[in-house]
Amino acid sequence: MKLAIGSDHAGYKMKWQLANWLRTPAGGRHKILDVGTLSEDSVDYPDFAREVAQAVSGKRAAKGILFCGTGIGMAMAANKVSGVRAAVVWNPQVAELASEHNDANVVCLPARFLNTPQAQKILHSFLTTRFGGGRHLRRVKKINGMDRK
Ligand code: RB5
Repeated sequence: MKLAIGSDHAGYKMKWQLANWLRTPAGGRHKILDVGTLSEDSVDYPDFAREVAQAVSGKRAAKGILFCGTGIGMAMAANKVSGVRAAVVWNPQVAELASEHNDANVVCLPARFLNTPQAQKILHSFLTTRFGGGRHLRRVKKINGMDRK
């Protein structure tokens, strides 16, 4: 799968570790489009949320992954882009439900509150769970109908 991935300074280290892992057989052999940031120098998270969200919205990536301190700012910003359903996820069960119930196409991880093995389990769960459809599709269509044009 082609994945767009981004972070601010708070998520930089975790992004680097997880991007490398996602390329390996254990991580799923994904293709990674890394939009930055590329150091721990302070940056503004909306700039990277926009890049990842637009890559997903424009179908240059199948899904997006964002890291910041809490995941919250990234989700707020990414959800401004039409067609994006970004979810803050903090454990594998929530990640599974974000895919199965909400058809989330971007996940936002709270890097300051997770370690690397926890983040790996979350991404594995998110990337391997399919959307459930049915009653969930009806609800997701209602979300999509709320997009700003
Ligand atoms: C940066 O200090 C922090 O505000 C940011 O990483 C994120 O948690 C915002 O939602």
